[in-house]
Amino acid sequence: MNKLFAITLVVLSLVSTTYAATAGNNVACSTNGKDCTGCGLGATDVTGSQALFTYVSGNNCKVIDCTVAAGATKTNGWVCSSCNTVASSAQTAGAFYQGTDCISACGANKAANAIQICVTSGNNVACSSSGTDCTGCGTGATNASNAQALFTYVSGNNCKVNDCSATVAAGSKNGWICNSCNGVTGSAQTAGAVYSGTDCATSCTSPQVSNTSKVCTNPPGNNVACSSNGTDCTGCGAGATNASNAQALFTYVSGNNCKVTDCTATVAAGSKNGWICNSCNGVTGSAQTAGAVYQGTDCAASCTSPASANANQVCMTPVAGNNVACSTNSKDCTGCGANATIIGLFTYVSGSNCKVTDCSSTAASTAANLNGWVCNSCNGQTGSNVPAGQQYSGSTCATSCPSGQTASATNSFTCTAGSSNAVKIAFTILFAIFGLLI
Ligand SMILES: *[C@@H]1O[C@H](CO)[C@@H](O)[C@H](O)[C@H]1NC(C)=O
Ligand SMILES: *[C@@H]1O[C@H](CO)[C@@H](O)[C@H](O)[C@H]1NC(C)=O
Ligand SMILES: *[C@@H]1O[C@H](CO)[C@@H](O)[C@H](O)[C@H]1NC(C)=O
Ligand SMILES: *[C@@H]1O[C@H](CO)[C@@H](O)[C@H](O)[C@H]1NC(C)=O
Ligand SMILES: *[C@@H]1O[C@H](CO)[C@@H](O)[C@H](O)[C@H]1NC(C)=O
Repeated sequence: MNKLFAITLVVLSLVSTTYAATAGNNVACSTNGKDCTGCGLGATDVTGSQALFTYVSGNNCKVIDCTVAAGATKTNGWVCSSCNTVASSAQTAGAFYQGTDCISACGANKAANAIQICVTSGNNVACSSSGTDCTGCGTGATNASNAQALFTYVSGNNCKVNDCSATVAAGSKNGWICNSCNGVTGSAQTAGAVYSGTDCATSCTSPQVSNTSKVCTNPPGNNVACSSNGTDCTGCGAGATNASNAQALFTYVSGNNCKVTDCTATVAAGSKNGWICNSCNGVTGSAQTAGAVYQGTDCAASCTSPASANANQVCMTPVAGNNVACSTNSKDCTGCGANATIIGLFTYVSGSNCKVTDCSSTAASTAANLNGWVCNSCNGQTGSNVPAGQQYSGSTCATSCPSGQTASATNSFTCTAGSSNAVKIAFTILFAIFGLLI
């Protein structure tokens, strides 16, 4: 009888052990819709935690037996959530996981994330470069991909650090993390909205300034309109002996604007030019000589007369033209051009002579301002930017006229068709003979 009672007890206890298994509620932790991959996320022992679950359907899984304590390393938000409200659960009550255990509601300044874990989220920061995820938010970190993974996408260009209370590895720190966690109660980050290069800081140490990624960097120059194609900084090296090296010192901004990337960097003598002077002028900490123009061998505040800055901010001494007989009143150059702009290119000399004041100027070499007098005056002058040629043909200066056309002082050095001297002489002779005959 005692034996039978004992066996019955054993059987009963076996039965009760088997049937005491109390499954959890369904929770949507399956990330693949076919097993419980995803349900261990957030636990120290991810695979051990995942093994506590059994697949149900869709994205649903449930804890196989809530009466067994999951333990510190396997407990996570999904275990808490699945076993919460199960009467005989061995887990602490509560649908969320905070710190080291389940909790019924996230503490102050915390909110449950997508895997039921209470975290201290950062503020929204506009670091998404795609507008669909947090690509861009890792910028400035040594390990950019790791830094980016700390963010949760919000909307538009906004992302936020998922959990500011988590310690961030040195190589993953950047300006966006500092900016997002700055001012967040419970943040484990050093206070400050910018990244100094080693940690968050309230401001950059002069002369460094914060760039658009909230990282303290050496000061860039001001925008200068030196891009010749509106897509890169081609054109910004103009005027330097080593133009390609000078150009490489610039960062493209937008439109025709570029800026010197780092004005604190020393520029080699052969790479200096007007655009570098102009961009770094007035920038705190600049290693360049102050001044917006380049004169001789360095930056200068202004060009020494009679030099003046050309279109590339380089001081140029004027290149005077040859005397040409275009003054029609022997007191000014009103006869040298069709309008005030062209007339203004000339300086009166004496008698009927005038000369182009500066054949190197943009005004003198502009196609619309060219005429025969400008061509003839500037022809052969070293440093002239006026097209070569002693006469004007079609729309530019030319070294010869097309067949059948001539140019001389008589027709203002403009190639025109008409009676050539040979024809005139022939007529003169013809008339002379005609005169003799009558
Ligand atoms: C800001 O500076 C950091 C570090 O130099 C750099 O990685 C990042 O690209 C910069 N951001 C911008 C927008 O230039
Ligand atoms: C960046 O961090 C991730 C995650 O911690 C790591 O797997 C990867 O090796 C790191 N890369 C570099 C270049 O440090
Ligand atoms: C910009 O123009 C220069 C020539 O002026 C050319 O060499 C360079 O490739 C151009 N850049 C782009 C991006 O088109
Ligand atoms: C221009 O500078 C670059 C970079 O420093 C250098 O490689 C190149 O040899 C220089 N060219 C000339 C003509 O000095
Ligand atoms: C001056 O005259 C030239 C030639 O006729 C013309 O092309 C140019 O547009 C004129 N400039 C002004 C400012 O009137």
